[in-house]
Amino acid sequence: MTLADVVYNDSVKFILSGGKGGVGKTSCAGAMAVLSANRGFRTLVLSTDPAHSLSDSFDQDLSGGEVIPIEGFKNLWGMEINTEKGMQDFQQTLGESQLGPEAEMASSLMGDMTGMSPPGSDEAMAFGKILEFIEDASYDRVIFDTAPTGHTLKLLELPDLLDSWLGKMLTLRQRLSSMMGGLRSMLGGAQQEDNSWEMLQQTKDKIRAASVQLSDPNITQFVVVMIPEAMAVFETQRLLLSLKKWNIPANIIVVNQLVPPNPSCQFCSKRYEMQQNNLKDIAELYSDMTLIEVPLFDGEIRGIEELTRLGKILTGEKEEYL
Ligand SMILES: Nc1ncnc2c1ncn2[C@@H]1O[C@H](COP(=O)(O)OP(=O)(O)O)[C@@H](O)[C@H]1O
Ligand SMILES: [Mg+2]
Repeated sequence: MTLADVVYNDSVKFILSGGKGGVGKTSCAGAMAVLSANRGFRTLVLSTDPAHSLSDSFDQDLSGGEVIPIEGFKNLWGMEINTEKGMQDFQQTLGESQLGPEAEMASSLMGDMTGMSPPGSDEAMAFGKILEFIEDASYDRVIFDTAPTGHTLKLLELPDLLDSWLGKMLTLRQRLSSMMGGLRSMLGGAQQEDNSWEMLQQTKDKIRAASVQLSDPNITQFVVVMIPEAMAVFETQRLLLSLKKWNIPANIIVVNQLVPPNPSCQFCSKRYEMQQNNLKDIAELYSDMTLIEVPLFDGEIRGIEELTRLGKILTGEKEEYL
């Protein structure tokens, strides 16, 4: 499988770019977004990394908390997911206060009984946004620029966590509501209209549907980005194991920032040798995956022109960056 097989494939709806911090995740996400849009796909590129750099990569402010068109394209949009705002939105769906006293009781009981508190924070909210876009048919393709490994793993673990948390909430709710019903009629209270539980059920169904899409290799591909250094190799190993565990398809590894051979410079030669040795190990470790080698550019990868250049290297249309 080549990267062109992924970005030019009609059925692929979600592409995630992930790996260790600083290896080139955002640059690759940006480059794939440009390739995808140039091929005519209505493409949305989203950053779920709280330390955003998508704006820098596109040289355009994408931090406004909503999807905006990317300059120079008719079919490319972008957004850095604003953690705080998204968190509020997502809490409105899952929030205890909205669900009334039964939910509060169920939630605290569940905390006591199972040690499970509602999944929260950045990841839950980023996932809430992902759910939104998974349902959204206005884009042919959504490309995610993800956070460094640990954070992204928490995000990908969420469907499982949320599913079981919501499941337990719903079961407890059934038990509680008969109890509360009894209490209410004892106290002469009226039966309350309560559709927030339906919302929980719907959220649960949506999460299930998302998991199915995220584990279908015809729909989703996680592109792993790394640099040929030992630390990155370890982290890639951890990332790939987890992706496997959660059934998220990953067949492509981008090995980025390869330095050219330069015999006249001792420092450069040492780096070159170190990288080539690691590259050999990587090729052996991941012989079942496609490796794409990307050279170190002579400057930063910033703006559409540079992203286009990187895109051509990713698809194999060009080997050199010059
Ligand atoms: N092949 C490359 N050559 C030169 N600079 C690169 C290359 N890949 C990434 N960079 C630069 O390295 C920095 C980190 O890249 P970025 O894509 O933001 O990484 P990440 O999203 O993984 O943190 C950026 O300044 C980017 O322009
Ligand atoms: Mg980044």
